Amino acid sequence: MSDIEKAATLLKQGELVAIPTETVYGLAANAFSNEAVAKIFETKNRPSTNPLIVHIHSIDQLPEIARNIPDMAYTLAEHFWPGPLTMVLEKAPHISDKVTAGKTTVAVRIPDHELTLELLRKLDFPLVAPSANRSNHISPTRPEHVKNSLGDKAPFILDGGHCTRGIESTIVGFERGTPTIYRLGTTAREELEKVLGRPVEMGNTPGKVVVAPGMFKKHYSPRTPFTVTTNVQEEVEKHPGKKLGILYFGDPDTPPAHALYRILSPEGDAREAASKLYGMMHELDELGLDLIIAQLLPEEGVGASVNDRMTRAASK
Ligand code: TXA
Ligand code: MG
Repeated sequence: MSDIEKAATLLKQGELVAIPTETVYGLAANAFSNEAVAKIFETKNRPSTNPLIVHIHSIDQLPEIARNIPDMAYTLAEHFWPGPLTMVLEKAPHISDKVTAGKTTVAVRIPDHELTLELLRKLDFPLVAPSANRSNHISPTRPEHVKNSLGDKAPFILDGGHCTRGIESTIVGFERGTPTIYRLGTTAREELEKVLGRPVEMGNTPGKVVVAPGMFKKHYSPRTPFTVTTNVQEEVEKHPGKKLGILYFGDPDTPPAHALYRILSPEGDAREAASKLYGMMHELDELGLDLIIAQLLPEEGVGASVNDRMTRAASK
């Protein structure tokens, strides 16, 4: 039996499977089975108030998932799917409260990974899939990360190699007709604005209500204390005698002699940085350091999304 057939069989039996996507590995279950969905919350130790994303393989499936879909949503779907964009829409009546955490809206996307698309085409139900890590851990971008984070609760992993985009999808909603970003990912705000030909708002900014419940500030945390800075040298000097790890954005001219470090993108490319961020955070987290210092990127395009994840990792 091929790995995809094995994954399909397990999912049909109501079991969980870790699936590769272009963003991060997902912990997948049959979206139409409450029993299977419950296993996700238990395995991740995820609060039942945090809703899940429904994964489909074709835009034609959208009416099974959502209703009153705005034209803007179709415009974005046609442009960005398959890809790292999730849309929050009014839910169709048969979508379970367990999936949406009781909300009247549902999150949906088509992931861009050939193995998972092939798997979805073999099934007659969509898959819900949060990131395949324990709640509040760093999201997995390689099969080993799934094993390390879920331990003996890790299910069968459909090995699709390294996740090329590296951070979770951008989430957009259309409340009161205004496109609003609830989570930044590698579909940049600027790209959405260009395709829609109108401004896109930022949700979840300080002082606003938390719309995506998973977007509380503390999230995506390594175990090692973690801090962000625009000036690495200055930050290093604040911690004499400590075992430091540094996560540089670009190539440092003179890295400090005693620090262990990783470089997200020697060329200074934000997309490459996103793709390597969690892997390098996982690596530095394993080194028994006193502190990890991460260098912030210029706050534009995907750089803003990488900064978002670094800043969340740094929050107490
Ligand atoms: O890239 C991704 O989106 C990955 C891969 C596996 O597809 N999935 C992922 O799922 O990051 P998760 O569960 O780790 O994050 C889903 C986020 C949470 O912040 C959740 O609160 C939000 O989506 N969300 C889900 N349904 C929502 C809804 N109806 N309204 C607002 N936010 C929602
Ligand atoms: Mg997650």
